[in-house]
Amino acid sequence: MQRLPIHPQGPTFSRIVTGAWRWNTVSPDTVERLIQTSLDEGISTFDHADIYGDHSNEEVFGKVLIKKPALRDKMELVSKCGIKFPSAKRPGAWIKHYDTSKEHITWSAENSLKMLCTDRLDLLLIHRPDPLLNPHEVAEAFSQLKQQGKVLHFGVSNFTQPQFSLLQKFLPMPLVTNQVEISLSRTESLFNGDLDLLMEHNASAMAWSPLGGGKLVAGERELFGKATKYNATYSQLSLAWLLKHPSNIFPVIGTTKPDRISEAAKSLDIKLDRQDWFEMLQWATGKEVA
Ligand SMILES: NC(=O)c1ccc[n+]([C@@H]2O[C@H](COP(=O)([O-])OP(=O)(O)OC[C@H]3O[C@@H](n4cnc5c(N)ncnc54)[C@H](OP(=O)(O)O)[C@@H]3O)[C@@H](O)[C@H]2O)c1
Repeated sequence: MQRLPIHPQGPTFSRIVTGAWRWNTVSPDTVERLIQTSLDEGISTFDHADIYGDHSNEEVFGKVLIKKPALRDKMELVSKCGIKFPSAKRPGAWIKHYDTSKEHITWSAENSLKMLCTDRLDLLLIHRPDPLLNPHEVAEAFSQLKQQGKVLHFGVSNFTQPQFSLLQKFLPMPLVTNQVEISLSRTESLFNGDLDLLMEHNASAMAWSPLGGGKLVAGERELFGKATKYNATYSQLSLAWLLKHPSNIFPVIGTTKPDRISEAAKSLDIKLDRQDWFEMLQWATGKEVA
């Protein structure tokens, strides 16, 4: 598995990242197998958020680290903060909203450390752009967490380009990524400047739902007419298509099946021809490039 710095100042991640969003649908034993299979395949980076599984997925993952503490130094942990919604686990929120106050960012990062049973997050992301985001407060929260060694690097998710640039201006450290939805079913970021802006900042995107949440690879698709030529599965072709982009996209896969993690890891072996890449784009968008 290829490993690359997502930004020149770090962190270094496995090129494919395993996402834990859907892991509340499987047993703790399966979670352990998903972690172990990822590591066996060289996928060392795990994507979390405070809210996944109604605030329970980090804790289930952390229990594996209690059982096998040596695994922590073999992996990089990403988590997110800033979304609140009504939940028995979070009394006080009566409406879904965003909170990027210094107090909440700090509390949420420290709580993620507790749930994940670790002393540090390799990367913390602001999950969604918050219309009430005060960049001074975010800068204070990030600086304090970094100075305390609790969070090593920072980034954002689902930010527009002006939101990314504005926040970056107020921070003493680089935003190392914008985690956005990119796949053959969501190609906007390739054309609207999202990836260009990240390249300008020497940062790379993390692509969430790289299989369109599964819909992309469901059923027979002309889009995957190249599967035989490359001796590849639909999911491998979908990931290889993202991996070919020169900005070094890091796809964040979401399967709950260990076998499918191994399948995804092999997508790095596929080197798509330029014209096949464009043919897949054409099938996906329904139109020829201008
Ligand atoms: N930042 C954000 O706002 C945001 C939003 C959404 C997600 N994320 C992150 O992105 C990660 C991935 O999102 P996602 O789960 O939507 O990603 P995905 O990889 O596009 O979709 C995974 C889904 O596809 C299904 N699937 C069907 N065929 C598959 C195949 N051949 N191989 C693999 N999966 C197949 C999986 O089912 P099985 O489980 O049965 O394999 C699973 O339900 C999440 O875990 C989370 O970490 C971030």
